[in-house]
Order: sequence, then C-alpha cells, then structure tokens
Amino acid sequence: MTTERWSSRVGFLLATVGAAVGLGNIWRFSAVVGQNGGGAYLVPYLVAAFVCAVPMLLLELTVGRRLRTDVVSAFRSVRAEYAVLGWVVAGGVLLILSYYLVLTGWVLGFLVSWLAGSQTTFGPFTASWLPVGYFVAATALTGGIVSLGVRGGIERMATVVMPTVFVVLVALAGYALTLPGWQEAAGFLFTPQLSVLSDPGIWSAAFGQVFFSLSVGQGIMLTYGSYVDEATNLVTSSVLITVTDIGAAVVAGLVIFPIVFSFGLQPTLGTELAFTTLPTAFAAMPFGRVVAVAFFGLLFFAALSSAVSLLEVGVAAATNSTTLSRERATLLLTAGVFTAGIPSALSYSPVRLSLAARPVLDLIDESVGAFALPVSALLIVFVFVWAADAVDLRRDLGVFDPLVRYLVPGVLVVVTAAKAVGIARPTWRLLVDHARDGDIGLVVAGGVLVVLAGIGWLLRNRGLVSMERQRR
Ligand code: PHE
Repeated sequence: MTTERWSSRVGFLLATVGAAVGLGNIWRFSAVVGQNGGGAYLVPYLVAAFVCAVPMLLLELTVGRRLRTDVVSAFRSVRAEYAVLGWVVAGGVLLILSYYLVLTGWVLGFLVSWLAGSQTTFGPFTASWLPVGYFVAATALTGGIVSLGVRGGIERMATVVMPTVFVVLVALAGYALTLPGWQEAAGFLFTPQLSVLSDPGIWSAAFGQVFFSLSVGQGIMLTYGSYVDEATNLVTSSVLITVTDIGAAVVAGLVIFPIVFSFGLQPTLGTELAFTTLPTAFAAMPFGRVVAVAFFGLLFFAALSSAVSLLEVGVAAATNSTTLSRERATLLLTAGVFTAGIPSALSYSPVRLSLAARPVLDLIDESVGAFALPVSALLIVFVFVWAADAVDLRRDLGVFDPLVRYLVPGVLVVVTAAKAVGIARPTWRLLVDHARDGDIGLVVAGGVLVVLAGIGWLLRNRGLVSMERQRR
C-alpha cells in the first residue's frame, strides 16, 4: 500500500500527460504518419485511441487507485503466483527504459549542440563518444528526479516541464504557419483517404502507435493511478489525457510536415526524421538555430518525463516488495537500467556495437520493444479483468468494461499476428525503420503464444475472486 498522493488534480494530470507525451508523439507519430500516407492514417488512429486507449487507461488508473499499490503487488493481490507476471511487466518496462534513455540522450546531445551553435547531425554525432556521455547524463537526471519522490520529484518536474512543452509546441506551430509548405502539409496530414480503411496494415500501425504513444498497458498508468485521490473522476481524466496526447502528436505533425514540405524533404522517412532530415532544414531556414533549440528542447522534456514514469514503475515495485528506501531502490534500479542500456548506447558510437549486422539498439527495440508492449498489456487485461473480475472494478469501468474485456485483447492478438504474417507496418517499437520486420515478427508472435499459454496455465481453475476480497 502506498500513502503517497499527487498534491492536486492538475499535478496528477500533468504527471500522466508527461508519462504519455514523449518521443512517440513528436517524432514517432510523424514518422508513422509519413510512412502510412498522411491523413489516410488519421481515422484508424482516432478510432484506436477512443476504443482501445481510453478504456485501457481507465482500467489501469482504476486498478491503481483501488489497490493503491505498484504493479507487482497489484498482480500479487489477485493471486500470490501472479506476482511473477507483475515482475515480467516491470522488467519489460525497465528494458524499454534502458534504450529509451539512449534516445533521450541523443536528443539532449542535439539540444546542447544546437544551443552551442555547432549544428550537429546524426553522422558526426554518432561518430563521437557523445551519445554515450549523454546517455549517462539522461540516466542520472531521470534517477535523480525519481529519487526525489512522487510529489517532490515527479510531480514537481511535470509542472515545470509539461507547460513548457505545450507552449513551445504551440509557438513552433505558429512559426510553421509562416512556412511556404504549410498548406501542402495540412493537406497531407488532414485529407482522409477512406479507401485505405480496408488495409489491415494501417489499422495495425494505428493501434500500435496509440498504445505506444499513450504508455498504456505497461503498468505506468497503474502506478501513477495509485497516487490519485478518491475525488478525481478517472473517466474524464482518461479522456482528457488521451485528447491531450493526440493533440500533442497532431500539433507536432503541424510543426514537422510544413518543414518537410517547405524544404523538399521526404515525409516517408522513419527513424532518421528527427536526427537527419530535420537538422538539414534547420540549418537552412531563417531562425533555424532558435527553431532547432526549441524543437530539441521540447523533445528532451517530453522524453524525460516519459523516462521518469518508466523508472517509477520499477522503483514503486521495488520499494513495496523489499525493505529498500526510495533513494536506494532508485539508485539500484538506475544502475541496473544503465548497465542494460550500455550495449544500446554503444551501438551508435565509435564502437558500432552490432549483432547479426544490426545495431544492438535496433535489435533490442525490435525484440523487447516489440514484445514487451503487447505482452504486458495482455497480462494486465487477463489478470485484472478476466481473473480478478471484481464486481467493483466492473462497476467502475461501466460501458468500457466490454471494450477492455473483449476488444482490447482481441486487437492485441490480431495486431501481433498480423505482424507475424508480414502485413503489419511498424507497430510497437520505438524506432520506425522496418527493413527486417518479418523474421522478428515471427519471434514476437511465438513469444506471445508462449506467454498466452503461460497465462492460461496460471489462470487454470481460477474461480471468481474479487480483488476486494483478496486484498489483505
Ligand atoms: N509514451 C511514450 C512516448 O510517447 C513512450 C513510452 C512507450 C513509454 C511505452 C512507456 C511505454 O514516447
């Protein structure tokens, strides 16, 4: 049980929006939209957000607040054996964090470089040791914030960082309005193409992006939900968080695409977009340096507040399950995450660490990133909705209950299967380049099947246990 609480509803909303809005909204969204033909993608994306992300968000926040505990203890409170599944979720989150911090470090490096006027691009940056140095800095900063606690660290950071993110985003969008390519960009982003709605690849990309972008299904929102007071309405909060997250992504698109079209760049680029494509435009545009600093500053703040939320999942679990203090648990986990992230950091450094001719970071992204997200989401649904099946939870979820109960797991399985047979575009991973999706897809699908079998075994003769009754 945790006694920590957000100091206010605004503090809670800023923290959760901080967790959700990250690299996924600003850089990955534009990359995925670009690869999926612009506005064509918008309808599936919005449908996915409201039928899957909102209910999933509500589920996690509700479970968190009802049980008032971290993800591992929450699983344990349904049934002692399920604690293992809780650790699987927390472990997945920490592994994602290990390379999310590498990318956060890149963003920080670009911010500092453009601030100092040296206008780096990806090639020279990764030919130096800077990516490793900035990985250290990003990791230390994230650990420092989490060690300061829920109110003193996470919430305080979010109340500074998130308003800044929104102000800068809107200012950049205002600047983008003055660019010659704005009309073309708006057309590209907002012209829906109903014909593509029959393309399963687009749907799978949209669902993947929505889960990723909102940080749902990872125990993050469950952990943050455990600090919410009883008076806060979680349904309105879930809708608000979702709308803000979508808004941030769309506005970021309205910043990035006008630049892309005004400078004759390719909208279909994936991972290179933020680090290669845009810097060439920044170098050429009026006030380019200011725009670059604003852009990378915004990206860094957004990434930092997401990294903090990922670490908090592990720290909350460790402090509740052991006798460690928050400071010690944070130090230990930060060190662990750092160690796990070293190979990823080295893969874009002079060492060029790679395995099977792929940078390690890409491999981890394709395996862990792709694997952990849908599996964790499935575990959360199976354990809290199916196994616990608490009456009070069902009442809290209301009309959203059938959505999390049937639709969300269905979508998760179908999207993962679609990936395996190769009709899916990049879905769960952070990086968007998808040259080698096929073989990894099979591994992911195999893994998901194994996990499903495991869940089935764990849930055998479960009976209907109420989370309330199980709670000690
Ligand atoms: N939602 C965050 C983003 O948009 C990243 C994230 C993904 C965090 C998955 C946790 C889990 O960048």
